[in-house]
Amino acid sequence: LDNGLALTPPMGWLTWQRFRCITDCQLYPNECISEDLIKRTANIMLSEGYLEAGYNYVGIDDCWLEKKRDKNDRLVPDRERFPNGMKAIGDFLHKKGFKFALYQDYGNKTCAGYPGVLGYEEIDVESFADWDVDYIKLDGCNVDISKMDTGYPYFGKLMNESGRPMVYSCSWPAYQKEPDYASIAKHCNLWRNWDDIQDSWSSLSTIMTWFAENQDTIAQYAGSGKWNDPDMLIIGNYGLSIDQAKVQMAIWSILAAPLFMSVDLATIRPEFKEILLNQDIIAIDQDVLGKQGLRVWNKSQCEIWRRELFDGSYAVAFVNKRDDGTPYLIKASFDAMSIPTNIYEVQDLYNEDEDFSFGPHGNFTTRVNPSGVKYYKFIPMKLNELSQEKFYYVS
Ligand code: GLA
Repeated sequence: LDNGLALTPPMGWLTWQRFRCITDCQLYPNECISEDLIKRTANIMLSEGYLEAGYNYVGIDDCWLEKKRDKNDRLVPDRERFPNGMKAIGDFLHKKGFKFALYQDYGNKTCAGYPGVLGYEEIDVESFADWDVDYIKLDGCNVDISKMDTGYPYFGKLMNESGRPMVYSCSWPAYQKEPDYASIAKHCNLWRNWDDIQDSWSSLSTIMTWFAENQDTIAQYAGSGKWNDPDMLIIGNYGLSIDQAKVQMAIWSILAAPLFMSVDLATIRPEFKEILLNQDIIAIDQDVLGKQGLRVWNKSQCEIWRRELFDGSYAVAFVNKRDDGTPYLIKASFDAMSIPTNIYEVQDLYNEDEDFSFGPHGNFTTRVNPSGVKYYKFIPMKLNELSQEKFYYVS
């Protein structure tokens, strides 16, 4: 969507994956979807470097509403959990330098059963604008799927006419068998293509496979202002090992995916935090060429994923999906990596190896942990610089 927003994939934090529909603040005071959770999270994001790293949207997913609209048909945020209303949340976030993201659903109910926008589109967009919302995730539960092709663009038009710039995140294609991606990319800034991520390696791994198998259909639609969305980062929760968390961060950056954490930042372990804050990998995700990368090789349950970057270098991820307990040696030709034959300065993006040079002959070899990744940036060297002792980065 050409509305001047999401020029690179949006980044931030969203409640759903970790906090779901926890509404009992008596039993779960630190986890319920509430003003307190949002404020606490934003404060940590500010003081611990997440905002500085680029995570600037703070979002409330489903389960923020009262079960009924008010007598004027307005949406009402839960009175106990959001005692000061939504404008107060927007103000708080804006004061700290964040942007405010909010969930709604195109149907007559959200996926968790709260009031949806259908039939109240105009009045609801007005509310979002009044509350200074910066980003709407519009889900697609409880609505006739055939209505989406006109309904999502209509809602987007209302958002645009509100005069308040709002990123438009659509779940439209996730509900359809043969989505019209040209139309989706024209009307949305990002869109969920497929199933919800769950807190497990099997879920992550299945999503990766789906994005690889459908890359010929979807990758071409990604670019500045329009992004495929493989769903939230589950890094730092219960289901992924450190190696597996590195896989998600690597592949999401190859996919030019929106980076929305969904984790308790008050208790996250430092190893996971470090992965989420890896600046070199974030820079790849945010690369201004905006070109979604591809899985370019797939053999013996090992995969190579490659993304082209604006400065002529390449991000290349070697993923081992095997479970045979010992690091697996992957040998790859330039063809297998799908990068031009050349001499490269190679940077290990997780800083496990020292930088080294490679090419123009031979196979690239690397050992990858079970359900793990090796992630490198390949920076081409100019031939006339070969004789120089000190390597020079060409951009
Ligand atoms: C759907 C979406 C999720 C989340 C839930 C909320 O399942 O895909 O991302 O928003 O609804 O109920």
